[in-house]
Amino acid sequence: MKIYFAPLEGITGYIFRNAYSGIYGHVDKFFTPFISPSEKAPMTSRERRDVSPGNNTGINLVPQILSNSADCFIKAAKELQEMGYKEVNLNLGCPSGTVCAKGKGAGFLPETLALQRFLDDIYVWSEIENMKISVKTRLGYFNPDEFYDLMDIFNGFPLSELIVHPRIRSDFYKGEPRKEYYVYALEHSKCPLVYNGNIFTRKDYDKLSGAFGGSPDTIMLGRGLIADPSLADKLKGFTSETDPGQFSKLHDAVYHGYQEVMSPDINVLYKMRELWSYWQTLSLFDGKERDIKKLMKAKKYAEYEDITYRILQD
Ligand SMILES: Cc1cc2nc3c(=O)[nH]c(=O)nc-3n(C[C@H](O)[C@H](O)[C@H](O)COP(=O)(O)O)c2cc1C
Repeated sequence: MKIYFAPLEGITGYIFRNAYSGIYGHVDKFFTPFISPSEKAPMTSRERRDVSPGNNTGINLVPQILSNSADCFIKAAKELQEMGYKEVNLNLGCPSGTVCAKGKGAGFLPETLALQRFLDDIYVWSEIENMKISVKTRLGYFNPDEFYDLMDIFNGFPLSELIVHPRIRSDFYKGEPRKEYYVYALEHSKCPLVYNGNIFTRKDYDKLSGAFGGSPDTIMLGRGLIADPSLADKLKGFTSETDPGQFSKLHDAVYHGYQEVMSPDINVLYKMRELWSYWQTLSLFDGKERDIKKLMKAKKYAEYEDITYRILQD
């Protein structure tokens, strides 16, 4: 089984990836949150810093690009190729209003003719350059049945992998993934598939095997792996418990990593709050709900550390 770490904008940047991969060893591939190339520049300095090989040593990383212009996509992919990357990923899933209004992410899915032309152009380039392009998609924009046509379109191109998050745009990240459409993909896809969506526990993973008539070869974990950083190790059978010592190490590595590149205190603490909004569900912190509420309101490092280290050392 292979496990990929999903891209999560604002969370799985290089600080988090380095902290995580230095402590937990069983993720096969990481994806960057999307790079959004414009006519003016293939990427911003913040995006460049996030993908820079110097900031990602020893991490098997695939940069993700969000675009509906083949020209912009190829310019960004070229720059990534010059940095040494051999694969990029196309985002066809982002449900955000501003992204979809521009016809990007999930907003590109209903434009099937334009999508086909776009894929024509980027795959011609990728074949010449020997660069792999994988796709991360939803089932459709308005209706999950759009997926039947999308599958035919994808099958016309040499995708290195197709990552399917079986929801439509209006589902955002809520409700049960529409697993029956992933079964359709398993029956019809010409390229290797990756399943993504709502795997938070071993039980969730085992249920997939039932729905798919066998366990999926490759899965991508997002919120579940943030909430329980040992989830990949648990699914691969390396551990059955969330180790508090390992968790503390991750916390410290992320916290100090942000402190090195951000100021003032509150900006680092905003980042930590977002992580705690996932971590608070860990059974390690049962009974600590009030402390977690307090640390999420902290405005200064001293206050944050006072509460956090008390919780982590308990
Ligand atoms: C805060 C947040 C940010 C995300 N950013 C991205 C992104 O940059 N690119 C992308 O393809 N998906 C993004 N996603 C979607 C995740 O990669 C993933 O598909 C989704 O969370 C479903 O998987 P999960 O149920 O395992 O979390 C984001 C999701 C969340 C919640």
